[in-house]
Amino acid sequence: MIFLIGFMGSGKSTIAKMVSEKTKYPYIEMDQAIEEAEGMKIRDMFASKGEQYFRDKETEFLRHLKDEVVLSTGGGVILREENRVLLQEGTVVYLKAEWETIVERLTGDTDRPLWKGEDSEKKKRFDERLSLYEQAADVVIDVDQKTPEEIAEEVMGRL
Ligand code: S3P
Repeated sequence: MIFLIGFMGSGKSTIAKMVSEKTKYPYIEMDQAIEEAEGMKIRDMFASKGEQYFRDKETEFLRHLKDEVVLSTGGGVILREENRVLLQEGTVVYLKAEWETIVERLTGDTDRPLWKGEDSEKKKRFDERLSLYEQAADVVIDVDQKTPEEIAEEVMGRL
């Protein structure tokens, strides 16, 4: 299993699809799988059931994962220690982006429930997570100023 981790907007889905094509392992988008299982958009899940409900679904999803897949995780998957342990079942690739890159990509995004509020609040979330991504990662790839193809190739070379 190959797990792509990183902050919102770091390019996990794009790169996971490309790595899936290259490895021939099926691609799974964790957020989408949870949305389908719950019959509800993540935005609505956060609003009606709360963040912890969604976090429980993330953990349940990881617990039941067995097949060889390329999984694009949600940016907060590393928050729970149990998840970080479960991720060790596969190769964890951290797509590391600078704060400026994230802001550039996510400005105007209204879909993500945790991309809201003051810039300082978002930056604090970003800073708080950095060490957790590093801790969970087997491989760290800097993604700034690189094309998706370059990043995907780099991932392939480091698996
Ligand atoms: C989250 C990131 C989102 C999604 C949810 C929470 C987070 O996934 O799982 O909105 O806590 O960073 P993406 O990283 O794919 O945006």
